[in-house]
Amino acid sequence: MTKYKAFVTRQIPQAGLDSLASTVDLEVWPGELPPPYETLAEKVRQVDGLLCLVTDRIDRQLMESALPALKVISQMAVGIDNIDIQAATGMGIPVGNTPGVLTEATADFAWALLMAAARRVVEADKLTRAGGWKTWGPKVLLGVDIYGAVLGIVGFRRIGQAVARRGRGFGMRILYFDRSRDPAAEEATGAAWMPFDGLLDEADFVTIHTSLNAETVHMFGADQFARMKRSSILINTARGPLINQPDLYTALFNRTIAYAGIDVTEKEPISADDPLLTLDNLVITPHIASGSLQARTKMALMAAENLLAGLRGERLPNCANPEVYR
Ligand code: GLV
Repeated sequence: MTKYKAFVTRQIPQAGLDSLASTVDLEVWPGELPPPYETLAEKVRQVDGLLCLVTDRIDRQLMESALPALKVISQMAVGIDNIDIQAATGMGIPVGNTPGVLTEATADFAWALLMAAARRVVEADKLTRAGGWKTWGPKVLLGVDIYGAVLGIVGFRRIGQAVARRGRGFGMRILYFDRSRDPAAEEATGAAWMPFDGLLDEADFVTIHTSLNAETVHMFGADQFARMKRSSILINTARGPLINQPDLYTALFNRTIAYAGIDVTEKEPISADDPLLTLDNLVITPHIASGSLQARTKMALMAAENLLAGLRGERLPNCANPEVYR
């Protein structure tokens, strides 16, 4: 039997590659950095299937040039904003993604940023290493209480709800905003729906868990920061362009809001000379929210399953554009 051919755009957890080894002839990009666009386009033209990551730009032109051989695109991520999904659907290419398996890891990490920001963990670590721990000080590095505070969750699907569940353990009042209300999730998490502006007015912590699309891009900018409490803390583990980044800089610099914890930026990676990196009231990490060993292994396995199903002409177990089957 001739094997299918697929290109994998990075070294993903081995379990995913192993699960494909007997059926698919895999070329795995060896670099630490993603393949450049032109290289990616050339590789895709030689295969039946592509397993890609959020760092790969998959546009119409790239997909078109790979037809008719390209049968499936399987992304090892839940977000698929790097892929022109409409174009894929138009060309009849199913696109797989990996929802569910990274929910808890991502919610954990949103909490890691929230707690680090509230209690100034990174500032404290830097100060200690720099020899700044002089004594126990009654006013040293004071943060704010998490327990009993108001948690505002923007985007209330899998990850937003998982963040809410953790909030209950902290005795928080939990508000959420999403385009539609979800009474079952309200019941399960104790969260109450609020209009977006009302949530901004009331929350002590605002955490973003919505997907990026034409409606949500720059959902947070100067107007939203002006509405938020001056003591509030903003967390973003979703996508960078949900926030207008120069506005975030200004809001943090002027203390319009108190602190932010972000795992994603408008351009990734952020440039080393970005003004955000000069701020003390910001904790920033390099897009690692789903990065637990367990979650990444499950994501790789799920992406492999989607890839194989697509290569076999079967329906993808997790398809981001199910309209392709209509
Ligand atoms: C990661 O950012 C994802 O969308 O899974």
